[in-house]
Amino acid sequence: MAKLQQQHSNAAGWAPPSVQKRWLLTLLIMLSVSTLIAFFIKSAFDSCDPPHPHNFDVAASNKPAKVFSNSIKTAPSPLSFMKSKLVLLVSHELSLSGGPLLLMELAFLLRSVGTEVFWITIQKPSETDEVVYSLEQKMLVRGVQVLSAKGQEAIDTAFKADLVVLNTAVAGKWLDAVLKENVPHVLPKVLWWIHEMRGHYFKLDYVKHLPLVGGAMIDSHVTAEYWKNRTQERLRIKMPETYVVHLGNSKELMEVAEDSVAKRVLREHIRESLGVRDEDILFAIINSVSRGKGQDLFLRSFYESLQIIQLKKLKVPSMHAVIVGSDMSAQTKFETELRNYVMQKKIQDRVHFINKTLTVAPYLAAIDVLVQNSQARGECFGRITIEAMAFQLPVLGTAAGGTTEIVVNGTTGLLHSVGKEGVTPLAKNIVKLATHVERRLTMGKRGYERVREMFLEHHMANRIASVLKEVLRKSKSHPHS
Ligand SMILES: *[C@@H]1O[C@H](CO)[C@@H](O)[C@H](O)[C@H]1NC(C)=O
Ligand SMILES: *[C@@H]1O[C@H](CO)[C@@H](O)[C@H](O)[C@H]1NC(C)=O
Ligand SMILES: *[C@@H]1O[C@H](CO)[C@@H](O)[C@H](O)[C@H]1NC(C)=O
Repeated sequence: MAKLQQQHSNAAGWAPPSVQKRWLLTLLIMLSVSTLIAFFIKSAFDSCDPPHPHNFDVAASNKPAKVFSNSIKTAPSPLSFMKSKLVLLVSHELSLSGGPLLLMELAFLLRSVGTEVFWITIQKPSETDEVVYSLEQKMLVRGVQVLSAKGQEAIDTAFKADLVVLNTAVAGKWLDAVLKENVPHVLPKVLWWIHEMRGHYFKLDYVKHLPLVGGAMIDSHVTAEYWKNRTQERLRIKMPETYVVHLGNSKELMEVAEDSVAKRVLREHIRESLGVRDEDILFAIINSVSRGKGQDLFLRSFYESLQIIQLKKLKVPSMHAVIVGSDMSAQTKFETELRNYVMQKKIQDRVHFINKTLTVAPYLAAIDVLVQNSQARGECFGRITIEAMAFQLPVLGTAAGGTTEIVVNGTTGLLHSVGKEGVTPLAKNIVKLATHVERRLTMGKRGYERVREMFLEHHMANRIASVLKEVLRKSKSHPHS
């Protein structure tokens, strides 16, 4: 961490004019650093895709943002009505996983309009943790005030706050544990941001206060629907007013995605490191390696697509599968299973495992197609999907979860069903995109256009702004506050 920060502060000291070149260099430095340092994307929510932490990482370097935003005229933020309001953000943990980093993005958006922002982390490691320390430093630098989760100050701040944002379902435990008899006074101004879609979160312990909070904010319509069903059927409680807020790509990611020079450099760099040629076709899953994310089924489809191509004697460039998000140190059965499969099918030279990394932009620049193969109920949202679309990549995704709200089947990608039934359809889709270059490129462009229309940071800020406005309005009219 220290090393990375050092690089960043070096980078921040650089100044124009030859900014662009240096920025590329910075990107490459970050890239090489990130392969040295194991910053793992913890899969805190298995069935949901924690938005990718690298956004924050890139943002933290600050360099590209500063340089490029000077040339872009800045519209007034939709959140400007939050100026001088007091907001308390409650995170279940502080790590480089999607949930906390997304909440941090919100913290910085609010800070940028002059909101007074307080932050509480419920579960902290008992010993000093480098990641926690450095994330807290980042917040402090940006004027976010970090409080202890327990104690009078936390209670007082919750009382004073105009708005309390609870992040993820588990954060619900904090209410009773800390606020105790004061819970009812605070509930009307609580906005509960939920990114999970797994059975074990449907516990009264966590979510019993849901019906009385000011509102719930959920990443996709499917997930919202699912919560509505499950809370009713399982727990016999009613969801509060629920707002669906699709996420957006950070400005920093968009700047890399829209810089053809940067993309080319990154593409060459990664392809060289993988030992693949410029004309080869790369299909990649970028997600933590686990059964829920479907890397096993993807490899089966990939193998099947190779067979189809051989059988039909199709003329296609050499095809490769890239699995970004591997963690052999975890020594899971699943990781071993994937590698055994590759050995058994003798496709070692076509399958590449890449360790978990925060810096996914270089991989998005290097590949040709993103595969989003999350199983069961799919992703809550799946931020990597919109990130890939920003890089003009078509998406081959499962017809489940948030993916169905992002990918337009037949236009920005192709959907296949989850489970074993999806293996052959995905194999055929792989062949389709490998053989129809024009179609593949068009789909990528359409995906990019869709991102520009719906999935940018300012879209997300707009959506969040209208939710905050609504929750503030309602809580003001509530007798308790
Ligand atoms: C919710 O329940 C309705 C009615 O039972 C059903 O049609 C719908 O598919 C369910 N949605 C989810 C996401 O489970
Ligand atoms: C990937 O992770 C494994 C296990 O943690 C490690 O042995 C290996 O060196 C890493 N590879 C790279 C390229 O960093
Ligand atoms: C996606 O579109 C293709 C045709 O382009 C169709 O065959 C397939 O059934 C569709 N899949 C889903 C899940 O809608």
